[in-house]
Amino acid sequence: MKASATATARSNIALVKYWGKRDAVLNLPATGSISVTLDRLTTRTTVAFDDALEADEIVLDGAPAVAAGGERVVRFLDLVRQVSGRPVHAVVRSENDFPTGAGLASSASGFAALALACDAALGLGLEPAALSALARRGSGSAARSLFGGFVEMHAGEAADGSDAFAEPLAAATHLPLRILVAITASGSKPVGSTEGMRRTAATSPYYEAWVAATQRDLDAMRSAIRDADIGRVGALAEGNCLRMHAAMLGADPPLLYWHPATLEVMHCVWDLRSQGVPAWFTIDAGPQVKVLCAPGNAAAVRERLAGLPGTREVLEAAPGPGAGLAEGAVA
Ligand code: DP6
Repeated sequence: MKASATATARSNIALVKYWGKRDAVLNLPATGSISVTLDRLTTRTTVAFDDALEADEIVLDGAPAVAAGGERVVRFLDLVRQVSGRPVHAVVRSENDFPTGAGLASSASGFAALALACDAALGLGLEPAALSALARRGSGSAARSLFGGFVEMHAGEAADGSDAFAEPLAAATHLPLRILVAITASGSKPVGSTEGMRRTAATSPYYEAWVAATQRDLDAMRSAIRDADIGRVGALAEGNCLRMHAAMLGADPPLLYWHPATLEVMHCVWDLRSQGVPAWFTIDAGPQVKVLCAPGNAAAVRERLAGLPGTREVLEAAPGPGAGLAEGAVA
């Protein structure tokens, strides 16, 4: 048997963050999350299943995958073999058009593209919710990157995780928005999200408060998005991000993903706001800062960010589409 498919998926930025798991094996989040899928920061993944292979081969950005990245993909393929009942190995080739592992959520676009490519290649015909739950097993945030626009991930309650999937909340065009990504550093982050979440949940005295606050933020964010109110969306996203980082700081050993250049961008955003330019920041498990603003303010915000000494580059993104197949499955 030979079957291959190619899929693309884009990164997403969480407006209400996922940081903590209720089950590490099934990768079930402790809370829901809400994100916006971007129109850039794309992963393109080809999976080619072949009976003749004796092991999986993983090639990330043109090079054989090193330890952790490759193992995660092999574990995901093990799951696909289990779900499909087809014990066949595969070659996976995945390419990002942005730096991997620098807090730009490559695992989100990566596992969303891989899940869709596996579904197509093997003809699994999974419904969107089941496909999202499958992508979640690769990486929690990947469950959201399957869909375009504004997306909500449900924490779910079922022990088997069948109700822990993402679904679209609003189309990409619903709320005109720009996301400016200030790149302040390159290179992989010192502590990955999976370990960072485990450590925060196990040791931070602020973890329970973070979970409780996130439940409230989800309700407020859903309604702010429904009303297409960028001011409420931005303020909630910034507050939720700071609460997540506060919980991380309380961990033992502490987790501090910010660099001096990260703080420089945060202060610049506050400065812009005090001068009447509405902009808000959000930061994931890395030093980069994503700044949200209305399209009409993007040029002004971009210019200010680009002028900061610690900012190397500013990428501009808008809400974008969900994952898609680049080529049909070849049986
Ligand atoms: C800070 O989805 O990378 O970006 O499920 O362990 O792979 P795993 O974690 P991951 O975590 C994302 C964390 C975050 C917030 C978010 O995207 O919601």
